[in-house]
Amino acid sequence: MAVDILGYAGKRVVIMGCFSGTGEACARTLVALGAEVHGADIKPSPVDLASFTQVDLKDPASIEAGVAAIGGEVDAVFNVSGLPQTFPGEDVVTVNFLGLRHWTNAWLPRIRKGGAIVTVGSLGGMNYLARQPLLKEFMDNPDIASGRAWYLANAERAGDPYTLAKEAVNTWVQQSAPALMERDIRINSTMPSPIDTPMLNDFRKVAGDAVLSAFAKAKGRYSSAQEQALPLILLNSDAASFISGVCLPVDAGLSGGLATGVLNLQQMIAEASGG
Ligand SMILES: NC(=O)c1ccc[n+]([C@@H]2O[C@H](COP(=O)([O-])OP(=O)(O)OC[C@H]3O[C@@H](n4cnc5c(N)ncnc54)[C@H](O)[C@@H]3O)[C@@H](O)[C@H]2O)c1
Repeated sequence: MAVDILGYAGKRVVIMGCFSGTGEACARTLVALGAEVHGADIKPSPVDLASFTQVDLKDPASIEAGVAAIGGEVDAVFNVSGLPQTFPGEDVVTVNFLGLRHWTNAWLPRIRKGGAIVTVGSLGGMNYLARQPLLKEFMDNPDIASGRAWYLANAERAGDPYTLAKEAVNTWVQQSAPALMERDIRINSTMPSPIDTPMLNDFRKVAGDAVLSAFAKAKGRYSSAQEQALPLILLNSDAASFISGVCLPVDAGLSGGLATGVLNLQQMIAEASGG
C-alpha cells in the first residue's frame, strides 16, 4: 500500500487564485491527491473542484461573502493570486497583500488544529528585512481601505508596489508564525523566480527580457507553474509539520548565489543584454 506522506487524502482545502498559472496547477494536483478542494478567484476556474466561488480580493465584502459561501472548517489555505505592476499600484498592493491578509484572517477561526497557510510571494520581495520600518507603517493599516490610502499617500517613498506587497507577505508570515503555532497552525511563503505563466508577459513589459533572463539563469529557463505549485503543496502538507515562518526561495539556487556573492545580478543582466 502506498504511504500518503503528504496526507491530503480527505483533507478540506481552500485555494485563492485557481483561474490560471500556479494556482490552477496547484488546484489540479490537490484534487489528484484526494483533497476536497474549494477554489476562489476573480475569474472562474477550469479545474473540476468541490466548489468554486467568485471573489475579488480588492473588495472586503466579496472576500467575507466568499468565506461564508464556502463555509465550514479547512485544513489548509493556499494563497496564490497575484497582480503585476502593469495594474494600478493601489490594486497591486491590495491583491498581493492587503486582500490576501483579509481573506486569510477571515479563514483563521475556521482552520483546524494541525492546519497550514501558504502564500506565494516573489524573489522581488527578498529584501524585506532591509525595509522593516517602512513595511511596519504599511502593515499597521488594519484593513484594505486604510492600506490603499496609505499606499496612495506614500507611493513615491514606498517604491514599486509589487515589491512592497511581496515584502509585506514575507514579513507577515514571519511575524504571525509564533502566535499561530500556539494553535498548532503553520504559515509559510514561497519566493518564486520567473514562472512561465500569463503573468510573465506583464513582467516582460515592466522589467524587460534582459532582467527576466538574468533571473532565469540559474537553470537556463523559467520555472513551470507545476514546479511552483508542488513546493506550496509540500509546505501545507503533513510532511512539513515542523516548518513554519519560512520564506522559501523557489529559484533553482539564484537567491543563494546572490546572497553569498557567487552570483552578481548586475553582471548577469549586462551579459543577458549582450553587454
Ligand atoms: N509569473 C511570474 O513570473 C511570477 C514570479 C514570481 C511570483 N509570482 C507570483 O505567483 C503567483 C501566481 O501567479 P502566476 O504566475 O501563476 O500568474 P497568473 O496570472 O496565472 O495567476 C494570477 C491569478 O491571480 C488571480 N487574480 C488576479 N486578480 C485577482 C483578484 N482581484 N481577486 C482574486 N484573484 C485575482 C488571477 O485571476 C489568476 O488566477 C502570484 O502571487 C504572483 O505574484 C509570479
